[in-house]
Amino acid sequence: MLNQTLRHSYSLLAPLYDGMVAAPTRAARQRSLAQLGEEVQGLNILLCGIGTGLDIPYLPTGARYTGIDLTYRMLKRAKRRITTQDVSLHQGDVMQLPYPDQCFDVVIMHLILVVVPFPQQALDEATRVLVPSGKLFIFDKFLKPGQRAPVRRMLSPLIGKIATRTDVVFEELSHPALTVLTDTPALAGGWFRQILLRKDSA
Ligand SMILES: C[S@@+](CC[C@H](N)C(=O)[O-])C[C@H]1O[C@@H](n2cnc3c(N)ncnc32)[C@H](O)[C@@H]1O
Repeated sequence: MLNQTLRHSYSLLAPLYDGMVAAPTRAARQRSLAQLGEEVQGLNILLCGIGTGLDIPYLPTGARYTGIDLTYRMLKRAKRRITTQDVSLHQGDVMQLPYPDQCFDVVIMHLILVVVPFPQQALDEATRVLVPSGKLFIFDKFLKPGQRAPVRRMLSPLIGKIATRTDVVFEELSHPALTVLTDTPALAGGWFRQILLRKDSA
């Protein structure tokens, strides 16, 4: 039901999404994806909630990319962005990824973890599909532990149903196999953060 409402609202938002999101997030998403480096030959990389594919122009060629999203109309736009990269697109739920364990070297979660109703479930799934020592790139907006942010907390139950939650505290999410390597303010005075995690090798 929650997924259905989100799918419906992102279907309506699809034609407006790039106009609202592309410019303000360009530099931050470029910085996040620069962590891939240029040597990506042979890597399997998953983009969770790929949306209209705003990340695609910054993906180095050589890797095999898979993009998954709940919303067909967002995926339709992502498809138009594919040029030289090897990108497969699937419609599906990042809280129940349709992929086997340990099949991706890198998972990218840009503006998706706080969109889904159950971020911990999405984080668990991303971790499950990562190979040991695989990397997880997160770019999203999080409250800090203990941050009051009354407006964001008050609005979250409403706008969370149609677009994104605004009350998620990153530090309240965890997975025993994940280690935070870097955590950097990315946008809006540090509300948006760029977080790099590594899955344990054992
Ligand atoms: C804020 S957009 C982010 C899109 C893209 N990652 C970006 O950085 O611009 C959130 C996307 O998540 C998708 N979405 C929402 N819930 C989802 C779910 N449970 N599984 C997969 N995608 C989902 C929406 O359809 C939408 O395309």
